[in-house]
Formats: sequence, structure tokens, C-alpha cells
Amino acid sequence: MKQKLLIVITAMLCALVFIFTGCSDPEGQQGQNDQTAPPPSVGQGKVLVAYFSATGNTEGVAEIIADTTGGTLFEIVPEVPYNDADLNYSNDDCRANREQNDENARPAIANEVEDMASYDKVFIGHPIWWGDAPRIIQTFLESYDFSGKEVYTFSTSGSSSGSGAFNGLSSEYPDIDFVENLHFTSSQLSSAQTRVESWIEALGITSNAETNRISFTIGGETVYATLYDNSVARDLASRLPLTLEFSDYNSTEKIAYLPDGSEDWDLSDAPTSCTPSAGDITMYSPWGNLAIFYRDFRLSNGLVPVGSLDDGAIELFAAQDEDFSVLIAAA
Ligand SMILES: Cc1cc2nc3c(=O)[nH]c(=O)nc-3n(C[C@H](O)[C@H](O)[C@H](O)COP(=O)(O)O)c2cc1C
Repeated sequence: MKQKLLIVITAMLCALVFIFTGCSDPEGQQGQNDQTAPPPSVGQGKVLVAYFSATGNTEGVAEIIADTTGGTLFEIVPEVPYNDADLNYSNDDCRANREQNDENARPAIANEVEDMASYDKVFIGHPIWWGDAPRIIQTFLESYDFSGKEVYTFSTSGSSSGSGAFNGLSSEYPDIDFVENLHFTSSQLSSAQTRVESWIEALGITSNAETNRISFTIGGETVYATLYDNSVARDLASRLPLTLEFSDYNSTEKIAYLPDGSEDWDLSDAPTSCTPSAGDITMYSPWGNLAIFYRDFRLSNGLVPVGSLDDGAIELFAAQDEDFSVLIAAA
């Protein structure tokens, strides 16, 4: 009798533990006090679009280039902003003219590019000041290591060309690989969208946004998702196309292991935890499986956010009662 009572109490305790910790799922091992992972950045990619713009013209072009390439937009912010008097070039002694006349002038920059090493193509935009790039562009070029990077410039002016500035920078910084310049006079700004699109296409640069798209085909039906920009997402993209066998886990997620049994995902640049929501594509690093959540779950250590299903795709995963086969491909 005593023994029976002990078994019942033990079973009840175990049930309580299960309810409070979700002990049957791997993510249940996670502590509750972990910091939430930083939000995954989408479309950051390997393209940086840095620009200085005193009156907004170059900024407009920079935004179009960032949109077209899926690159990261970075405004080069002067530590001391330029006011109207500073830019009044008809006054010989205005700040902008003084700087342009002084080859050693290097106006300070207030902000910094995060992780410059991760970019391999850098677009640099600037207005034309007296036929040249403003000196702050030299400050920018001298602040980072550009070796191994392709540098493209873009510029805007009232009517002058951009070639003088491009040639000037190319000869002043022979170690930097300046590839090409795209220039806009004020009358060409209205056609910036189409000119940028043709330029980017001619350069053979594919939008990161496009390369981040993947598809899942289940029983003849295809749904789409966007991968985040981290090492695990890139690792997954590099393995595509891939057919994986998924099964249900914990009535919350569909999980699959890589066909070769390997678990060695590239964790070099990936968040170490996340709080998954329905529609999140993740990889659980302690086990090496992909996990696609069709229900929200709690903060989980070792769970790397990899991407996000498009609206409507969750239902297809949730509807699978049995184990199922999925073809994952680049979209
Ligand atoms: C100090 C200064 C010098 C300029 N020099 C030239 C020039 O040599 N040729 C030209 O066509 N426009 C010149 N401009 C006009 C700017 O290049 C043009 O308005 C540009 O689009 C401004 O870009 P932003 O709005 O991004 O600053 C100059 C403007 C300033 C303030």
C-alpha cells in the first residue's frame, strides 16, 4: 500500500515537473533568465551602401541602391553638421570651401560601420564639391580596411560630372579597388530608380533579398520563406536543394535532421537563443535539427533563428499528421 502511494506521488510530481518545464522537449532545458536573442537582421548581406549627403540628393540615390541590392544603408554623419552658411559655396570662406581647399582637412565622422569586415562590396555616395568628393569621404576611406573589398562610388551634382572625383579617389588610394562610379546631375535625379536598377544588373550584383528566399515543397504544394542573415542561415542556403524527412515534435514544431546525419552547422555568426513564434524556421544546435514552429514557444537556449515562413505557409506544416518529406530549395 505504502509502495503504491509512493508510485502515485512520484507520478504526480513528474507530471508537475512536465507541466512546468516541458521536460519532454529539448528546448525545455533552457533557463528562463537568458537574454532574448537580438532580432535577426534580414537582408543585411554583404553589400554596404555608405553615403554622405548634405542636402538630401545623394541620400535619395543611396536608398534606391540599398533597396536594389538588399544592402545595409549607412549614413556618414559629420561630427559637426553642415549648416546653410557652411555650404554657401559662393562665399570663399565658407566651411565647405575651406575644407576642399585644404588637402589635409579630414572632417570627423560621428558614427561607425558595425562589422565592416563582413562586407565585400561597398558603395560610397557623395555630392560633388568643386569637382571632387567632400573631404569627409577621405575621412571615411581612411577609417577602415578596404583590402579585398570592391568599392563602387555614386555621386550627385548640379551639372558637373562625377569622373573627376572618382579618378581623384582612385589615384589617391591606389590600394583600394575602386570599380566604377554612377553619377547623377540634378536633372538626372528623377530617373534614379531605373538608372540604378540597370547599373546594379550590369554589375552582376544580385539582390540579397532575392538570394535570401527559399521554398518548401510538400506533396506538390510549394510555400516560401525568407532566410535571416546569419551563419546558420547561410549554411542552410549553401546546402540547397535538400530533401528532408520531417516529423512532429511536441505538437509545436516539425523537426528534421540533415540526411548525412551531420550536425556541424556553422555557428560562427549566429544568435545563441531565441523565443520562437509560429512560422519561425530555427536550428536547435545541441541536436543539430531544423525546427519549424507552427505554434509559439518559449525562450530557448541553443535555438538559432534561421528564417521566417511567409504568411499562409504555417498551415501547410501544421496540417501534416504523419512524417513527411520536404524539398527545400533556393527560390
Ligand atoms: C561646397 C559645394 C560645392 C559644390 N560644387 C559643385 C560642383 O563643382 N559642381 C556641381 O555641379 N555642383 C556642385 N555643388 C552642388 C552639389 O554637388 C549638388 O547640389 C549635390 O546634388 C548635393 O548633394 P547632397 O544633397 O547629397 O548634399 C556644390 C555644392 C556645394 C555645397
